[in-house]
Amino acid sequence: MDTGKLSSRRRFLCLTGGIAAGLAAIPSALRAAEQQDAGRDPVEDLMREHGVLRRLLLIYDETANQIRDNRELPLEIIEDSARITRSFVHDYHEKLEEEDIFPRLQKGANLSELLTVLNAQHAAGRRLTDSILRLSKRATVMPAEHKAERAEQKSPAAVEQIYGGTPLITHLLGKETREMKMTQEGIPHRKQSLLVALEQFSRMYRPHAAREDTVVFSAFHSVASPRECKDLAEKFAGRQRELWGKHGFETIVESVAAMEKKLGIYDLSKFTPEV
Ligand SMILES: [Fe+2]
Ligand SMILES: [Fe+2]
Repeated sequence: MDTGKLSSRRRFLCLTGGIAAGLAAIPSALRAAEQQDAGRDPVEDLMREHGVLRRLLLIYDETANQIRDNRELPLEIIEDSARITRSFVHDYHEKLEEEDIFPRLQKGANLSELLTVLNAQHAAGRRLTDSILRLSKRATVMPAEHKAERAEQKSPAAVEQIYGGTPLITHLLGKETREMKMTQEGIPHRKQSLLVALEQFSRMYRPHAAREDTVVFSAFHSVASPRECKDLAEKFAGRQRELWGKHGFETIVESVAAMEKKLGIYDLSKFTPEV
């Protein structure tokens, strides 16, 4: 590993924390210098985890495209991605943010409004993941024609129990039980509900992660001491080892890469435009 580069990156992270803190810039810079010696940076770990989140969003985007194009729906990949999202993003990454990052900023930085929104988005993200898991369950997927018949016989409450999920999805399903049949694009409604959930998830998490990367994590360095940073980095690493073993992060990345390969979006060069 290029330690020179790593050091300058850490310095950049810590210094940007100083800028965000305004008048607290000088103490922050001092902390930054000390922090360089302290080793791992917990915020750098969280940003790296956002990379996994972005790759999961890419999988959601691709599967959403497949639904829109009426291609064969890769339910297995959606379900597996949602499981990783639940365990890695909601139960691990976001828990650390909620327990160890946000409370420090609530006290030490003027970010309470933003933190309220971020917490609400974590809750909405969990609800969407629950919906995506229910809607992508292979065993419960019905052929469109049977689904329409059966849904017609169910009360809205029963339908809600089957599909669960966000108010928007429930609302959409309520409309479906009245209208039945197909959407204008010819997509069966179950797929349409899944499409809505995938789109909502992706639309929310892109700005969410970007705001954390550029505002929240930068500000964190202005309120946390090098000692706290070091302790947190150790806590994060320990939690990861406990959940997924010594090479937990790499294992998660490999699992995500395997799904990208199945979907045909692993090859990065495919994203280069011909210009
Ligand atoms: Fe978050
Ligand atoms: Fe995050």
